[in-house]
Amino acid sequence: MIAYDREKGLLTIHTKNSTYQMKTDKYGVLLHTYYGRRADGDMSYLFMMEDRGFSGSIYDARADRTYSLDQLPQEYPSSGTGDFRSPALIIEGKNGAAGCDLRFDSCKIREGKYALEGLPAVYADAGEDRAQTLEIHMKDRYSKLEVVLLYGVLPELDIITRSAVIQNLNDEGIVVQRALSASLDFLTGEFDLITFHGRHGMERQLERQRVNHSAHVIGSRRGMSSHQYNPLMILADKECCEEHGSCYAMEFVYSGGFFGLSERDQYDQTRMQMGMMDEKFSYPLAKGESLILPEVILSYSGEGLTRLSQNLQDCLRLHVCRGRYRDSVRPVLLNSWEACYMNFDGEKILGLAREAASLGIDMLVLDDGWFENRNDDNGGLGDWLVDEKKLGTTLGELIRDIHEAGVRFGIWMEPEMVSEDSALYREHRDWAMRLPGREPVLGRNQLVLDLSRKEVVDYLFDRICGILDQGEVDYLKWDYNRSISDVYSHGAELQGKVLYDYMLGLYSLLERLLERYPDLLIEGCSGGGGRFDAGMLYYTPQIWCSDNTDAIDRLKIQYGTSFGYPMSSIGAHVSAVPNEQNGRITALWTRGVVAMTGGFGYELDPGLLSDGEKKEIREQVALWKKHAALIMEGKYYRLSSPFDDALCAWSFVSRDQEEVILNVVCLETHCNMPGIYVRLRGLKSGAMYSDTAGGGVYSSGALMEAGYPVPRPEGEYIALQRHFKIVH
Ligand code: GLA
Repeated sequence: MIAYDREKGLLTIHTKNSTYQMKTDKYGVLLHTYYGRRADGDMSYLFMMEDRGFSGSIYDARADRTYSLDQLPQEYPSSGTGDFRSPALIIEGKNGAAGCDLRFDSCKIREGKYALEGLPAVYADAGEDRAQTLEIHMKDRYSKLEVVLLYGVLPELDIITRSAVIQNLNDEGIVVQRALSASLDFLTGEFDLITFHGRHGMERQLERQRVNHSAHVIGSRRGMSSHQYNPLMILADKECCEEHGSCYAMEFVYSGGFFGLSERDQYDQTRMQMGMMDEKFSYPLAKGESLILPEVILSYSGEGLTRLSQNLQDCLRLHVCRGRYRDSVRPVLLNSWEACYMNFDGEKILGLAREAASLGIDMLVLDDGWFENRNDDNGGLGDWLVDEKKLGTTLGELIRDIHEAGVRFGIWMEPEMVSEDSALYREHRDWAMRLPGREPVLGRNQLVLDLSRKEVVDYLFDRICGILDQGEVDYLKWDYNRSISDVYSHGAELQGKVLYDYMLGLYSLLERLLERYPDLLIEGCSGGGGRFDAGMLYYTPQIWCSDNTDAIDRLKIQYGTSFGYPMSSIGAHVSAVPNEQNGRITALWTRGVVAMTGGFGYELDPGLLSDGEKKEIREQVALWKKHAALIMEGKYYRLSSPFDDALCAWSFVSRDQEEVILNVVCLETHCNMPGIYVRLRGLKSGAMYSDTAGGGVYSSGALMEAGYPVPRPEGEYIALQRHFKIVH
């Protein structure tokens, strides 16, 4: 619920368990009074006005030296106002002066959640979950610049979104040098910062560190959200753990470069920020033009990190993901990549499809290597002509045969890229991002197409439709296998706009495709999970989580991913052993348990398996299908950490608490080991749960307090899965 007390200048947002408050002071400055556990009243009593050395005062305050924006908590701090902490907004006038002094002008409250033109955003109609929007109009008192701060509220999920629109009404024009989407100031608290760093094949590794007197900056200057840092930051009380304590999240609904910061200032106050990366960003606005900032999702939990993740997971699953697959169970896939890489013909693919059908798998995905000039990953991108010679048939016929074999069909593309050796590049060198007068930087021997240009987006739309229209295609794996390094558009005069305009181009392309193929399931991918973000989830409800399919490495990757993303969005497959990425050997059952965490599938050649292994796979597929709805929609609990503990355990609990799946992978085995117990969480208090495989009946109290005993692991990486149901 949003409330405006005009007299006091107080703007208060209440969600079910949190309160977020701002106050316009006597000078019209919008201060941030509070964010945290639900509270009432005017929280500006928390401000301590003191004369602080070297902290400037705005001109209005003159001799009142206790008034300084350098120490007051602000809603949207801009550079040039005497606040020397990290600004959210840097605006440069024509004369090069960077000043912008925003003051409150007016505000509006309306039902339903705002949308952002051209950008992905959390959605909720008026009346849906009591969602509301707050618009605060701020004006620079000297220039004709207006900033509209936007807040979307989903009260039941304790979610508040933030975005802003920067509008220039100034004849001379301005340049936006930095425009972050959210900035939060905390007057009190000692925090840890939790971030998710990584690399190709090892994405979203959790790191927790104390926020001390320095700026901690994460981000990406790669034109993509990146493997290296995920656009998700959590500030947690230093005592906060999974079950207790206060914590705050910022999650970016954007797939381009980003900037995230936490900083403890000279008075032990903490600032947290997130928005677009400002390097190689400089966005001119002529009179009448505006810039819409991508959205940041905020959430607060006073009940620890699990609750915070559940808020974000529910928000993304139900209010960011769209289309038919938002709510329906995803098909089980057999992907050709690790099965045969690019060494195949049509017969081989059809053989895989037949094997898939016999195992109960729903869909065959034809990965990379099906188009002309693509027998290795050095060429072929851009033209998208089916290699009928290699396939020995047309794509349409192959699709038809695959359907006849009893499975559906999906295909891989990497639309945003071009190889030097392609007709497209020979004809339109200027459609690739490259610096003029220099050889381009290559990544996987390919260049990035300039999606800031409309003609490039139109070309790609036609090429993709040209492929999808060759048969009944139900799934598209949308890959993206390099970062943007040569930021230069040959179609633009103003290069500081290119990276943002690229994202608008990409989003418009995906939107057009979804309009034309509303039932198409697109799975996002970027060398695995290099573009695993809430922006992509708006178009692709599932993302290939990592190129690393080793079950044990995946435990950490999926654990880190679970902090901000719904399990239904995680693409996870069982692959062959020794694992292709790290050589590790794990049992087929362990690989199955780890992959049964999200969008499930296989990435191997079933033809190379023994009858016993095929039987086990048939059972795994049946098991996943049986529990798929619970896995996709249930509440997810992290029961231990693969980073700290000798085992990794997690569970899914149905919304009505009737059913639970417990999963455990033992990471250590020793002689004469002490007993291992896993404490369950989220069960119905006072209920009795029975192990549906006949293992016994247990009280929820004991399962949550003392735990469930895990049999001593007889070997490495033993996995266990139990399914419990309430006894009535
Ligand atoms: C990327 C993807 C893989 C596979 C290959 C194909 O690395 O993440 O899953 O599709 O490209 O080239």
